[in-house]
Amino acid sequence: MEKERKKILSGIQPTNTPTLGNYLGALDNWVKLQQEYDCTYCIADLHSITVRQDPQQLRKQVYESYTLLLAMGVDPEHSTAFVQSQNCQHAELSWVLSCFTQFGELSRMTQFKDKSAKHPENINAGLFTYPVLMAADILLYQADLVPVGIDQKQHLELSRDIAMRFNNIYGDVFTLPEAYIPTDTAKIASLQDPTKKMSKSDENPNASISVLDDRDTIIRKFKRAVTDSDSHVRYAPGKDGINNLMTIYGAVTGKTYEQTEKEFDGKGYGEFKLAVGEATADRLAPIQAEYARLSADKKYIEECMKNGAEKAFKSSRRTLQKVYKKVGYIVL
Ligand code: TYM
Repeated sequence: MEKERKKILSGIQPTNTPTLGNYLGALDNWVKLQQEYDCTYCIADLHSITVRQDPQQLRKQVYESYTLLLAMGVDPEHSTAFVQSQNCQHAELSWVLSCFTQFGELSRMTQFKDKSAKHPENINAGLFTYPVLMAADILLYQADLVPVGIDQKQHLELSRDIAMRFNNIYGDVFTLPEAYIPTDTAKIASLQDPTKKMSKSDENPNASISVLDDRDTIIRKFKRAVTDSDSHVRYAPGKDGINNLMTIYGAVTGKTYEQTEKEFDGKGYGEFKLAVGEATADRLAPIQAEYARLSADKKYIEECMKNGAEKAFKSSRRTLQKVYKKVGYIVL
């Protein structure tokens, strides 16, 4: 009999088109891990409305993000790819888990502090309890591993804490999840302020590369990337801008820092930036072509979504029923 594969769960918010940071920090791993693990990936649209969204635009973004997952190589037959709001059990488990999460714990979440500072006019309860919903996403599927960028590490630790607390009271209900964080690409930085992470919601369009940016745009943005006043392409402390470009170059070409230093020995930043732009555009080109092909077939995408939602519902049903029984609800 085939040995049961370990389980993976991860998610991405459909707010704006995924960036090169999302791709190198998380999505590229999602694709690779499918070979070895039983993978479930969700478009986390429930999470998106913690910040006000235009409904039409959100719907468009969900189609886009879902199609992009498939274009990148997530296989909807082999893995489970679904839209979070299409499996009602996420919201149900989230409620139960919120009763096992402390106000103090949620108050310490740095993403809550950042986002509430950014949107002081809309510090809603959903923004505050968002990490509980993320814990529900993970724990529903009994995930062993969660591939994410470094910015999600704190949320992952909270998910583990909630799972442990619940298990301590009710027995072994949840698998304790572990973060799977890449070593080099865990935090791809903004091209305009390399001390900050590259973010989908950055107001400066030159700060981030969208995975759907065309070749000229990608090259132009890299040419404008903020670097230091040195001119040697070498990885060193304090050279945040160049370090970031070297990380991106390494990730898209497979070259080590050493190989890159050798390749650009005696050449200036200008030449290097152009090479990073070209290599990134080359890496994204097949994804963009596949995206164009798939997005012309909405019926196929909707079929995949439907199947994905059904598979997700089935594989999370047992966990929710177990939780309901444990806390004392009647499950008929
Ligand atoms: P989100 O949508 O902000 O980002 C999706 C994934 O991309 C990673 N990431 C980055 N990695 C490297 N460098 C960057 N600059 C960068 N920016 C983003 C993120 O770490 C993430 O892995 N709350 C999550 C979505 C989510 C989720 C989940 C994740 C919902 N439920 C369950 C894991 C498990 C989020 O907002 O990610």
